[in-house]
Amino acid sequence: MSARYQLSGTTAVEISAGIESGIRTGALAPGAALPPVRALAADLGVSPATVARAYQELRQRGLLVTAGRHGTRVRPRPPVAARRSALRPPPLPGARDLSRGEPDRRLLPPLGPHLAALAADTGPSVSYSDAGVLPELAEVARARLHADGVPAGELTITGGALDGIERLLGAHLRPGDAVAVEDPGWANLLDLVAALGLRPIGVPVDDEGPMVAGVAAALAAGARALVVTSRAQNPTGSAVSAERAEALRALLAGRRDLLLIEDDHAAELARVPLHPLAGATASWAFLRSVSKPFGPDLRLAVLVGDETTVARVAGRTRVGAGWVSTVLQRLVLALWSDPAVDELVRRAAQSYEQRRGGLLTALAEHGLRAHGRSGINVWLPVPDETSAVTALRDAGWAVAPGALYRIAAAPAVRVTISSLHTDDLTPLAAALAHAANPTPPPGFPT
Ligand SMILES: Cc1ncc(COP(=O)(O)O)c(C=O)c1O
Repeated sequence: MSARYQLSGTTAVEISAGIESGIRTGALAPGAALPPVRALAADLGVSPATVARAYQELRQRGLLVTAGRHGTRVRPRPPVAARRSALRPPPLPGARDLSRGEPDRRLLPPLGPHLAALAADTGPSVSYSDAGVLPELAEVARARLHADGVPAGELTITGGALDGIERLLGAHLRPGDAVAVEDPGWANLLDLVAALGLRPIGVPVDDEGPMVAGVAAALAAGARALVVTSRAQNPTGSAVSAERAEALRALLAGRRDLLLIEDDHAAELARVPLHPLAGATASWAFLRSVSKPFGPDLRLAVLVGDETTVARVAGRTRVGAGWVSTVLQRLVLALWSDPAVDELVRRAAQSYEQRRGGLLTALAEHGLRAHGRSGINVWLPVPDETSAVTALRDAGWAVAPGALYRIAAAPAVRVTISSLHTDDLTPLAAALAHAANPTPPPGFPT
């Protein structure tokens, strides 16, 4: 815990408010350890039950996490507005930042011409009463999903894949319910699950997707929803293969008690074919985002699913935010309708594949097996994440510690390959090999 931050309060509400304020101001940094319940209770002169209640409330809201012998800590990205700098320490000056999981800006299609065309279109403005999903956009989206084997279903639009997942989980589950998530899995999803007061059940992942035994165990443990990343899984790059899809579909067949959510965030950027699970369960939703091919600032994803599931999401959106801006929908429609944009996305996908493949090959030459079947990240198992991240930082490379993405999975680091040059491969692979096989300390082995 920060030596500067004094926890205070005599009631659970005051103690939790003090901790939340410390997180907000940055005095309690992400990952900071809080005192054990008994120690803080003795410090504040209150009963341990009072402190336990305060911690419990913050845990249910996803601000704190309790991890066995590591005690209670601030979550890496708690859902309260903190200074962004507190969320992710900046890499050292001069270091190459491979920690962010962002697409390469230079490979995104330019939006200018399509925005100019939209600006020149002086049709009537959209009013509250006629806003909603643009039929033309729905038609193009359906055709694209149909071509990839996603079953026809009802369709709505959300403000991105994560917004869709939040709306789905919010509509189907209640705080305390269990959600099966990939382990390792996307850090934002783990944060969202915590912020919704849901319980994550980790499902081990290999290069072919979530492992069947892990999904079966999560179902047996009472998971009410399962979130699967179709391709470019973050952080491992895994993609659901045809065989895995078949086995998972057989396991899930006809289940009425489970909401199946598929996240195809990489969409056209993924060079591996899609093998959807959609339709295996009675409640299902398939999300396709435009963030990776067109840029994360276009907050839009298409959600298809069974009638009840989509009606819940669309209905909840209608009584809240209303709809996803029609201006944005028209922009995405224009991008999807332009063959030149398709070609740019195809080239971007090819370029990521080359960089990813280049790094995997360079690592293999050091005898290291890393993971990255698709997408913009490579996942490299290491014996100790802290020392690996530090050694890499000292060598001029910023990478993300695997702890952000793991529940019970083994330690690793995530390397974003989107901005790598060919010249980077040899020195980066050498630095990663050093981080993954640190020189043993001098002296006799024990
Ligand atoms: C697995 C996964 N899903 C979804 C997203 C983002 O989707 P969106 O921007 O549409 O919310 C990301 C972004 O990195 C991701 O890694």
